[in-house]
Amino acid sequence: MAENFEYKEAPDLAMLGEGPDPEPPRRTFLFWLGVAMNAVVGVLIALPILGYLFSSWKGTGWQKWTAIGEVDKFPKGQTRLATYVNPFRTPWDGYTADTPCWVRRMDDGSFTVFAINCAHLGCPVRWFPESQLFMCPCHGGVYYADGTHAAGPPPRGLYKYEHRIVGSQLEVKAGRLPTLQQSV
Ligand code: FES
Repeated sequence: MAENFEYKEAPDLAMLGEGPDPEPPRRTFLFWLGVAMNAVVGVLIALPILGYLFSSWKGTGWQKWTAIGEVDKFPKGQTRLATYVNPFRTPWDGYTADTPCWVRRMDDGSFTVFAINCAHLGCPVRWFPESQLFMCPCHGGVYYADGTHAAGPPPRGLYKYEHRIVGSQLEVKAGRLPTLQQSV
């Protein structure tokens, strides 16, 4: 049985015109979309790192005089709790921007303002007028009424705020939290 094969010449590709676009618009669009998204993520990651690196250059810029109450609110010979709003608060800080401190007013009318944080690991200390001592609930740190270290693990006395009286207002230099290297 005879077999008939028909051989055809391969078509001339030049006659078919130009082939499909090697970079279709959709692929190009997705490529640049990916580049843009990576750029956005890169910026979001880099911003806090740059903020941390450059924050130390601000020096004392993170401090601001802040009112903590009328002078008459603090009776002579007593230590009272006061609260100020962190002057560098951000909208999402909420109640954590409210910062407490202890205000001691001496009989001669002068003031000492203590940070509420223990100088050991930062727990809030409490004032006990009966014993005239500040006590820390975390590891038993104790401070005298003038803020000096009395007992327990704290390596130093309570941190003190710089303060001043403007008109009838008592103000403290607030903002930066104290550290062992630098008190407020
Ligand atoms: S944090 Fe106050 S004694 Fe440790």
